[in-house]
Amino acid sequence: MPAPTPALSLKITAPGELSLVRGATTYAIHPLWLRERCRDAATMDLKTQQRLSDPSDFDPAMKVVGVSEPSPGTFRVKFSDGHEAAFSAQDILEEAQLAPNDHDCPPLTLWDGSLTNLPRARWNAQASETERLAWLESFLTLGFVIFEGVPTSPGTVLKVGSMFGFTRETNFGALFDVRSTPNATDLAYTSVSLDPHTDNPYRTPVPGIQLLHCLANETTGGLSTLVDGFAVAQALREEEPEAFQVLASTPVRFKYIDGETELTASAPPIELDVTGALKSIHFSPRLDFVPLFPPAQLETYFGARRKFDHRLRAPQYEIRFLLQAGDLVMFDNCRLLHGRTGFDPREGLRHLQGAYIDIDGPRSLYRVLRRRRNQAATVRRSA
Ligand code: OGA
Ligand code: ZN
Repeated sequence: MPAPTPALSLKITAPGELSLVRGATTYAIHPLWLRERCRDAATMDLKTQQRLSDPSDFDPAMKVVGVSEPSPGTFRVKFSDGHEAAFSAQDILEEAQLAPNDHDCPPLTLWDGSLTNLPRARWNAQASETERLAWLESFLTLGFVIFEGVPTSPGTVLKVGSMFGFTRETNFGALFDVRSTPNATDLAYTSVSLDPHTDNPYRTPVPGIQLLHCLANETTGGLSTLVDGFAVAQALREEEPEAFQVLASTPVRFKYIDGETELTASAPPIELDVTGALKSIHFSPRLDFVPLFPPAQLETYFGARRKFDHRLRAPQYEIRFLLQAGDLVMFDNCRLLHGRTGFDPREGLRHLQGAYIDIDGPRSLYRVLRRRRNQAATVRRSA
């Protein structure tokens, strides 16, 4: 459980001092932090909200020489370079509330194999903004959403993807057909089972979001599997902290090779951001090549990978479901691992179409729709 956030407020603490009060802690806001946030036409282009001057050119000894609160919630600040600007307390507090690595989006809800209430939604290409916000909330908190009733005409996966972000084309094309074929260039294009993996860890950057759309499934196997890699990494961090550290600090090489393509990239299986929070999982047991480290280091790495992998494959963490014709699963390829059980192609056709979109599309759309909803609510309130 994250600790509750202490209440935040702003206070004039001295003639030239605007302070942030965070619970029991109070500190004066750095004058340069304020100066570079002035939102007047002299400091920023009002249309694009982009700064007009380089903030590193501001006087390094900048001071606040006067602060007043002409009306509740608005502060007027006078700077030592002669500039004066108004600040909305709400804007400052909203920014102060964000954790340093926060995406300003709904917080993640980590899940395990006991997740039975899967985020399913009826697909509607004309969905209202409210409906799309609800889909995005599911996707951003759980890392996936399953749409039902998506028309099974080939190529629809690209239309669905483009509702949420920009297509990330690869050497497999803008979309790729996942079905059992002879001379497959990837094990996904056979009928074998696929252990939990993230897609394309051999690319930089890795495709952020994957969509898999089922056009036909006439077999009894080929169940889809998903695992919340962040939940498993979090469990490892608590239960096996040394293994966690090893996986967060070992650069593993991933490779993909075919006639026209040779891709390789290095990444730790558990990638952390600068604050130490989970950022991305890079894991594919069929594509990873750890460098030839000295034996003791490799022994430790292999032990850590085994602990992670065994958890990733444990029913405790995995969910399974059958994609039926018209189902489409969209998932975060940086957080979730996916796989499938094997199937017998003699039973019938199993055909999925897949595509990737960039990781930041749904977050951007979520913010835009949330802004519009809040603006509409303000207009209704003031009407
Ligand atoms: C893939 C993949 C899973 C499936 O194409 O990347 O993992 O259900 N496919 O076939
Ligand atoms: Zn895959």
